[in-house]
Amino acid sequence: MNDFNSIAPFYNFLEKIGFGDYLQNIRKSYLYNIENKEILLIGEGTGKLLTYFLSLPTSCITIVDSSSEMCEILKGLNLNQRKKISIINQSFLDFNIDKYYDFVSTCFFLDCFSQIDSDLCRDKITNLLKSGGFWFDVDFYDPKNCSFSGYYFKFVMKILFCFFRKSTHLGSHSLPCGPQRFCKNFVLRNKSICLSPPLNANLREKVGS
Ligand SMILES: C[S@@+](CC[C@H](N)C(=O)[O-])C[C@H]1O[C@@H](n2cnc3c(N)ncnc32)[C@H](O)[C@@H]1O
Repeated sequence: MNDFNSIAPFYNFLEKIGFGDYLQNIRKSYLYNIENKEILLIGEGTGKLLTYFLSLPTSCITIVDSSSEMCEILKGLNLNQRKKISIINQSFLDFNIDKYYDFVSTCFFLDCFSQIDSDLCRDKITNLLKSGGFWFDVDFYDPKNCSFSGYYFKFVMKILFCFFRKSTHLGSHSLPCGPQRFCKNFVLRNKSICLSPPLNANLREKVGS
C-alpha cells in the first residue's frame, strides 16, 4: 500500500513549486454551494479542498486518508470548533460505513492506485453516493500531444511521478493516458481537460439508485 507519511510535511511546498496556484484553482473552480450536505473527502491530504468547505457552516464532512501524518496536518487546521468533521485514518479500500453522501471528492487520489484497486475505489464511491449526489474527481494524465508548455509539464510530472513512486510506494506504474473506465451510473455535469499541466477534472452526478 502507498504511504504518504514521509512526504506529508513537504506536500504543499512541492505542489507550489511544481504548479503554483494552478491545482488549487482547479479544485475550487468546480465547487458549488453545498450546504446542509453530507460530504466525503477521500485521500484529502493536507486539506486543500477542506479549507473551502470550512466556510460552509452546516455541512457534515467525513475525511478518509490512509496517511497518519496527513491526518495530523488536517487536525492542525483549527478544526476544533467544528463539530461536524470526522477524520478517519484508514485506507479507503477498507472503509465501511452505513451512510450515504451528497458529495464525494477524489482529488489526485485515484492515480495513486493500480488499475484493479482504482476500479474497486470507483465501485465503492458509486455505492456510497446518494442518487442525485455528485462525484468530483481530478487526476493527472499522460498527454500524447504536447505544446511547448505541455512538454515542460510532462517533464515536471515525470519527475514528480518518479519521486512520488519511490517515496510513497505508489501502486500505479504510470499516469493514465486517457479517460478512465466509463461510470455507467453517472451523468457528466462539468468537465475540463487541461493540457498545461495535463489534468482531467470531472463533476459527475449519480443517476438512479
Ligand atoms: C496525491 S495525494 C492528494 C492529496 C489531496 N487530495 C490533494 O488534492 O492534494 C494522495 C492522498 O491520498 C491518500 N491515500 C493514498 N492511498 C490511500 C488509501 N488507500 N486510502 C485513503 N487515502 C489514501 C494519501 O495519504 C494522500 O493524502
